[in-house]
Amino acid sequence: MTGSLPTDAIRELDPPARLLMGPGPANAHPRVLRAMSVGLLGQFDPEFTEYMNETMALYRQVFCTKNQQTLMIDGSARSAIEAAMVSLLEPGDKVLVASFGRFGLLLTEIAERCEAEVILLDAPWGTVVPLETIEDAVRQHRPKLVATVHGDTSTTMLQPLDGLGAICRRYDALSFVDATASISGMALETDAWDLDVVSSGLQKCLGGPPGIAPITISDRAAECIRGRRHVERGLGNAAGNGRRIASNYFDLAMIMEYWSPERLNHHTESTTLIYAARECARLVLEEGLAARFARHQTASRAMASGLQAMGLTLYGDATHRMANVTGIEIPGGVDGEAVRKSLRQDFEIEIGTSFGPLKGRIWRIGVMGYNCQKHKVLITLNALETVLRQAGFKLPSGAGPDAALAVYRSVEAA
Ligand SMILES: Cc1ncc(COP(=O)(O)O)c(C=O)c1O
Repeated sequence: MTGSLPTDAIRELDPPARLLMGPGPANAHPRVLRAMSVGLLGQFDPEFTEYMNETMALYRQVFCTKNQQTLMIDGSARSAIEAAMVSLLEPGDKVLVASFGRFGLLLTEIAERCEAEVILLDAPWGTVVPLETIEDAVRQHRPKLVATVHGDTSTTMLQPLDGLGAICRRYDALSFVDATASISGMALETDAWDLDVVSSGLQKCLGGPPGIAPITISDRAAECIRGRRHVERGLGNAAGNGRRIASNYFDLAMIMEYWSPERLNHHTESTTLIYAARECARLVLEEGLAARFARHQTASRAMASGLQAMGLTLYGDATHRMANVTGIEIPGGVDGEAVRKSLRQDFEIEIGTSFGPLKGRIWRIGVMGYNCQKHKVLITLNALETVLRQAGFKLPSGAGPDAALAVYRSVEAA
């Protein structure tokens, strides 16, 4: 026995060429994949730190902000959420969470682990939290932080945010927004909406892989975080003030210093994922934010029209739907998981189900980033039509793709 692995049994990676039309991850843009294959550099190499600076500048534009502290957290989207929460919240601090789905509840889960006092505004799934309700609660509870989600993919609803920052400013609270699913797919104005911390991920509308999380932090929030600066032992300057941030890895005071000219020696940066993030932002800005939002809007309208023409019912409050993920009620008598399986096995298309109370009740179809293209909308609708027909669901032949195409034709003619 040599103990060596039989390499013929564990073959070179050759994953199926799947079309990822669920709520994320979506397929990454080929240019992003190419950027990830270029050579590694050390995290303090001047060439690399220049790429970091460029990445910061690019994401200021993506987030529509002038925030100096616009940087990347190494980890999937929730790593930036966790970094923000653990760096802002101390035990006993009040945080108001406006939740309308699973990812709002994730904010409460993380805030509780920070031992913050959580005040939960929990809107019924399929709706959003009215800004007046948030303002009433802020006036009553005077939280340090108000946290919410922009687009909650679990319910496919989009929380109105224009006005949230102003409410927070009136009552001297900070605001946090999880924009993982909306960034570069739907308008998000960090500065114009006075938002303090906005976090995201690459794997949805940005058209990149999961694993790194862009975040932007206002000067106000950065000051609050710096008030808790404790540089780790062994780096020479351990003296601290304020309460030490409970996580070392997600200590934004140190991470901000790593992304500054001081280049504090914190973690070993993921060169490859910075390359990916940089290329995602270059693609977004090359296209232009307005054009990109319009592309998502059109694809989403086409997808929604197609689904409805097939006789399906869309989930949730129509006035607050996200433009990149659509919830569809699974028709009675149809086995939702069997439909997903056939789409995957027969057509190489992935769509999503949902969580908790919506598990088995809705499918979720995403048209995001690189996948937000006419032919991918049409291919998905065609495949779904076939699978549903075979599952015994009565639908008008060809109506779905025809309706979607009609939306595209009207936009193309305008
Ligand atoms: C709105 C929202 N927030 C946070 C997350 C968590 O992202 P990740 O799985 O990359 O940590 C997701 C993932 O689907 C999401 O849709």
